[in-house]
Amino acid sequence: MEKINREKHWDNIYLSKTIQEVSWYQPKPETSLQFIRELKLPLTAKIIDIGGGDSFLVDCLLDLGYENITVLDISAKAIERAKQRLGNHTQKVKWIITDVTNFQPKEKYDVWHDRAAFHFLTAEKDITNYLHTAYAGLATTGVFIIGTFSLQGPKKCSGIEVRQYSDNSMIEKTKDLFENMKCMEVAHTTPFETVQQFIFCSFRKRQQESVNLK
Ligand SMILES: C[S@@+](CC[C@H](N)C(=O)[O-])C[C@H]1O[C@@H](n2cnc3c(N)ncnc32)[C@H](O)[C@@H]1O
Repeated sequence: MEKINREKHWDNIYLSKTIQEVSWYQPKPETSLQFIRELKLPLTAKIIDIGGGDSFLVDCLLDLGYENITVLDISAKAIERAKQRLGNHTQKVKWIITDVTNFQPKEKYDVWHDRAAFHFLTAEKDITNYLHTAYAGLATTGVFIIGTFSLQGPKKCSGIEVRQYSDNSMIEKTKDLFENMKCMEVAHTTPFETVQQFIFCSFRKRQQESVNLK
């Protein structure tokens, strides 16, 4: 899918469906919060949610007291919706509207979180580019938390082909840049009472001297 179409595609989805009409809707992103909580980071930690859309993760992190949250999404409409919901709290968050494959992080994040955006990248060069961007955007001891469809998950979502991953294939794909901390299978129940199988993994950024940067 061409980059320009990606943007339109996602804007159309956010224009035509309400928050509860999308399969990825979850009122409380329990797994993501569990992964983040386990890191025992200070509330000043910098956390970026890639493809955050209008997810409630940002609301939950603000409620927990996190002070440095960034949400990145390709869809301006998604970000608009999240901002409207947050009202005055909007100013506490940094918002970035861009295709992640063009993203050049200007900050070093302690956590790079992605639920259900990475798996839309199917071209090998986009995947490699994404992983190198995550590596570059993370602080020295930064953690990459990723949730994707598993091998038992959907093959398409929102009309777009996705890549499915197992814990092993995710570890293999990331091993040059990241060291695996944990992986778990998660069943997500959609608002339509169907179940989508995910895997969630966390990875610690490898030290630069042991990494072959392209
Ligand atoms: C399935 S939704 C998941 C939204 C959110 N992470 C959640 O868990 O509720 C995928 C999100 O990724 C965004 N997205 C898709 N491709 C992207 C890309 N190349 N760059 C940035 N965001 C992207 C979409 O706009 C959408 O908000």
